[in-house]
Amino acid sequence: MSAPIPASNLYLGQARATKSVQDCMTVYDKWAATYNDEVGDEAQNYVAPVLVAQAAIKFKSSNDPTKPVILDAGCGTGLVGQAIAIGKAEAIDGLDLSRPMLDVARETGIYRDLDQADLNAPIEKASDTYDIVVCVGTFTLGHVGPAPALREFVRITKTTGIVVATILQEIWISGGFKDEVEKLKSEGLVTVHSDGLIDYVKGHGDKAILLILEKNNA
Ligand SMILES: C[S@@+](CC[C@H](N)C(=O)[O-])C[C@H]1O[C@@H](n2cnc3c(N)ncnc32)[C@H](O)[C@@H]1O
Repeated sequence: MSAPIPASNLYLGQARATKSVQDCMTVYDKWAATYNDEVGDEAQNYVAPVLVAQAAIKFKSSNDPTKPVILDAGCGTGLVGQAIAIGKAEAIDGLDLSRPMLDVARETGIYRDLDQADLNAPIEKASDTYDIVVCVGTFTLGHVGPAPALREFVRITKTTGIVVATILQEIWISGGFKDEVEKLKSEGLVTVHSDGLIDYVKGHGDKAILLILEKNNA
């Protein structure tokens, strides 16, 4: 008899198979209560939030000693905020599609503002607002596409600030992410500092592109 499939695998599979923003939201609304326990377990071993938080803080602090103001786009339950140790940021705001996920993030006490938003649409934030925009686990199958999100992240980032994001390896080219990054680069809007592979959901053997874009003085 085969072993039972962990609930986290079911939700992950469901979320990646969604065909609409509403369906994706419904999966995360249900998953919010158990997400933190499940993604960190041995079967999942979701390492991306810690790896990305460390990369973002290291990159930014090597150029600028002041504490950054950060937007965690697709913040979910707040794992990235928690991985950015308190004291390393001036403030962290979060955006996410799912209100129950945002409610869990709120309980961490780490975030300044938390708002519901669809990242497949223009972002209701002023231009040149953040030192770092971080986005982990949200550029994946069935979730958020490259446009307008990447351009919007660059717009709301301050000049010399950075956008740090994971993109599931299998959709980096097929999903149009590489092309969108090339476009931003050819327009002189960004300098690409990383588009290499990192571990992502280790339990699944998933890898992701770690994208680091610096906003140019255009
Ligand atoms: C795999 S979780 C990652 C959450 C968090 N960044 C982390 O690393 O744990 C993906 C998140 O993307 C959010 N999401 C999915 N589609 C979205 C959209 N169109 N706009 C904003 N957030 C979205 C989900 O609600 C969920 O919280």
